[in-house]
This record gives sequence, structure tokens and C-alpha cells, in this order.
Amino acid sequence: MQIFLDTADVKDIRELAALGVVDGVTTNPSLVAKEGRPFKDIAAEILQIVDGPISLEVVSTDAPGMMAEARELAKLHKNVVVKIPLIAEGLKAVKQLSAEGIRTNVTLCFSAAQALLAAKAGAGYISPFVGRLDDISHMGMDLVRQIVAIYKNYGYPTRVLAASLRTPIHFVEAALAGAHVCTLPPAVLRQLLKHPLTDIGLERFLADWKKVPKTG
Ligand code: E4P
Repeated sequence: MQIFLDTADVKDIRELAALGVVDGVTTNPSLVAKEGRPFKDIAAEILQIVDGPISLEVVSTDAPGMMAEARELAKLHKNVVVKIPLIAEGLKAVKQLSAEGIRTNVTLCFSAAQALLAAKAGAGYISPFVGRLDDISHMGMDLVRQIVAIYKNYGYPTRVLAASLRTPIHFVEAALAGAHVCTLPPAVLRQLLKHPLTDIGLERFLADWKKVPKTG
């Protein structure tokens, strides 16, 4: 399973990319707005830090506008994946962009039916939003399981990118469900590393090592 970082914070991206387990980055307008810097500057920095798929989102809501934005974004770097919302105009744009060889990540997916349509349109990635479904008392991870099964049934090449993940349990469940990618907020990636028994165990090993005679 690939791991993407779900953030526009270049400091976090730089620090966590150094772990060697970050395969890509996803951003959205809300994440970019939090940074208080121009979008193009942030995008250029992320593209320079991580050599993998970088999702940058359009903000037009009509297909011609989305396609124009997507073509501009795709010119920035070969790793750009254009994020398109799962609405009717979005599907039209995805169909055309995929014919032009521009990779897309179809976002704001909340149903298996929507995901099937996105795959038919030629989406490169589909982003089911797990946490936001959990927020309204649905089992968000069930959606990931359904999409993985449906895509497998028909051999769609669209990759399932589990999004809106909020906890380490989400990460493990998405892996069990067969998601191709998990996109994680930096805090969640940091949490994945942590285990109290690892810390206690290491502390004990180091303390015991001090008792080993230095000479024979
Ligand atoms: C997906 O690509 C989105 O950027 C993100 O995962 C949304 O997460 P949120 O529901 O925590 O805002």
C-alpha cells in the first residue's frame, strides 16, 4: 500500500519524507488555505520535496473551467495529479483529461455508485472520504471495501485512495480492505510509529547494554 501525506504544510512534508515511506501528497483548497501562502509557491515546493504523485485540486465547477485549470496544473510537473470533485461536470472533465493523458484523482466520493461512475470516466484515483462518513454515523470504511470489490469485479485500473483518515485504526483497516493508497494527515503518520512497548523495550536494551563489560 502506498502512503501519501494529506497536507500542504511543506515543513511537515519535508520532515516526514525523510522517513523514506512517503510515496506522494494530497492537498485540497482547505489545506492550502491554512498555510496562508500562494498556492503555486506551495505546489512548487511540494513537487520538489516528494518525487511521487502530488494531487492538486481545481476550484472551477464547470467542465471547461476544470479542464483549463487541470491543463495548467499538469504543466507544472510530470508528477501532478489533478483533483476533480465528483460532480457531473467533474465526470465530463475526467473523461476528457484521461483522453489527453492527464492523471486525475476524483475527490469527495461518498458512495460506491459515485466511485463506479468515476472509474468509467477514467479516473486515475478515487478518493472515498472515510472520516467524514464516520462523522455522520456511517461506517466510512465499508465504502472503501465496496469500491475495492467493485473495481476488482470489473478490472478497473482506478486506484482506491482512502482519504479523510483520522486514526491509525483507519490506516490498518484501509490496508485490510485492499486500498491501494492511504493519505494521512502528518499527525496520524507520526502516531503510526508509536508504541509504548517499543519505547520501554529500547530503554531496557540500552540500560542492559551499559552492564556489558567493556573489556575481557
Ligand atoms: C483527501 O484527499 C482530502 O484532502 C482529505 O483526506 C480530507 O480529509 P478531512 O475530511 O479530514 O478534511
